[in-house]
Amino acid sequence: MKILLGVTGGIAAYKALELCRLFVKAGHEVQVVMTQHAKQFIGPLSFQALSGRPVRDALFNAEQEAGMGHIELARWADWIVLAPASANTLAKLRMGLADNLLTTLLLASDRPCLLVPAMNRLMWQNAATQENVAVLQARGYHLLAPAEGVQACGEVGAGRMPEAQQIFADWQARSTAAAYPALHAFWQGRRLLVSAGPTFEDLDPVRFLGNRSSGKMGFAIAQQAQALGAHVTLIAGPVSLPSPQGVQRIDVRSAQQMLDAVQHHYAQHSVFISAAAVADFAVAQALPQKIKKQAGQKHLSLELIANPDIVAWVAQQSPKPFVVGFAAETEQLLPYARAKRERKNLDLICANQVGAGIGFEGDDNQLVLISREQERTLPMSSKHQQALGVLQEIMHLLTQ
Ligand code: C5P
Repeated sequence: MKILLGVTGGIAAYKALELCRLFVKAGHEVQVVMTQHAKQFIGPLSFQALSGRPVRDALFNAEQEAGMGHIELARWADWIVLAPASANTLAKLRMGLADNLLTTLLLASDRPCLLVPAMNRLMWQNAATQENVAVLQARGYHLLAPAEGVQACGEVGAGRMPEAQQIFADWQARSTAAAYPALHAFWQGRRLLVSAGPTFEDLDPVRFLGNRSSGKMGFAIAQQAQALGAHVTLIAGPVSLPSPQGVQRIDVRSAQQMLDAVQHHYAQHSVFISAAAVADFAVAQALPQKIKKQAGQKHLSLELIANPDIVAWVAQQSPKPFVVGFAAETEQLLPYARAKRERKNLDLICANQVGAGIGFEGDDNQLVLISREQERTLPMSSKHQQALGVLQEIMHLLTQ
C-alpha cells in the first residue's frame, strides 16, 4: 500500500521514525511529508533513509514539485497517517486552511486518513481541540486518541502519542476493515468476547506457575474485530500489551479469575473466542508467606489441582454463544485438535503448532481452522492476518 506519513511539530515526532520503519518493514511504500515545525524536532534525512524517498516539506519548491506535484502526491496515497498530529494542524484541517504542503495535501485528498494527535494534556483537553477532533471524526477522519501518561513537559495526563507498534496495529486493523466490506458488514455491531494471554497460578506471594503465552493472538483478534465494528470485551491474563482502542478490557490473573469474568460476561456476547492459554493446574492453596528452602533440602512437593475448563464450561451452556477454542500442541497437532474440538463441544478450533521458534512469543503464526464441517489451513503470516482468517471463518460458518 502507498502511505503518506504526515509529521507535524511535536516532541512525539521521534516516534514517527519507528512508525515509518514498521510501514516499510511490512512492505508498504512510504512518502513522508513534514511541516517546518516538525523539522525543528527531527531531521528529514532520517526519514529519507528509512523510507528510501526524500522528504517533501515545501509547497512552492520548483525542485520538489517537478517530480510529483502536490496534487499528484495527494492522489498517490492509498492512506494518509498523521502522526503526530499537532493541535495546530488539527485546527487548520478542521477549518480547511492550506498554508503548507501537508495541509494543502490533506485538503486535496479524498483518501482515508488516520489522525494520531499528540500534545500537552491541557492542549488536548481544550474545548477548541476537542471540538476540532469531533468535527473531523464526523467528517470521516479516523482517530487514534492519545494515551495517558507522563508527558515530555513533565505533566501527567492524556496527550501522549501511543507507541509506534500500537499505531501500526491500529492502522492495520482499520485498513483491513476498509478492504473487506462483507466482513465489516457481518461483524458490525456483533458482540464478541475474547480471552487472551496466560494465567498465573500463585504458589506464594512471590512465585507462580505460568506459561509462555504472550497474548498477541487474542489481542490481534480483539483489535481486528473492533476495527470491523464489533463490540469487543477482552479478558486478559497477565500480559504486557497495550489495550486496543475501543475494546473493553478486563484484567485477570488466575484461571479462577478468568472463569469468573467469563461467567459474568459470556451471556451478553454472541461469539466467544478462547485464545487464552489457561494453566491446567493450580496449587490447592497458595501459601501466605514465601516458601523457604530448608538447609539441605533436595525436594519440594507441591500438590496441584485441575483448573476449571473455561471454554468447555461456556460450550455446555444453553443458550450458548458460538464458541471458538485454540489448541496449541507440540506434536500430533491435527489429531489432538480434532479430539479437543469434539470433547469440548466447540464450534471451531484453531490449531497451532508450538515449540522451538513458533507459536507463543513470535509475531507470525499458522493456524489450521477445524470445524465440524471442514478444515482449512491459513498460510503462515502475521498474527494480525491469522486473526482476520479466524474472523472470516466464523462469518462463513455462521452464514452458510
Ligand atoms: O485443554 P487445552 O488447554 O489443551 O485446550 C485449549 C483450549 O481450551 C483453549 O481455547 C483454551 O483457552 C481453553 N482452555 C480453557 N480452560 C482451561 C484450559 C484450556 O478454557 N482450563
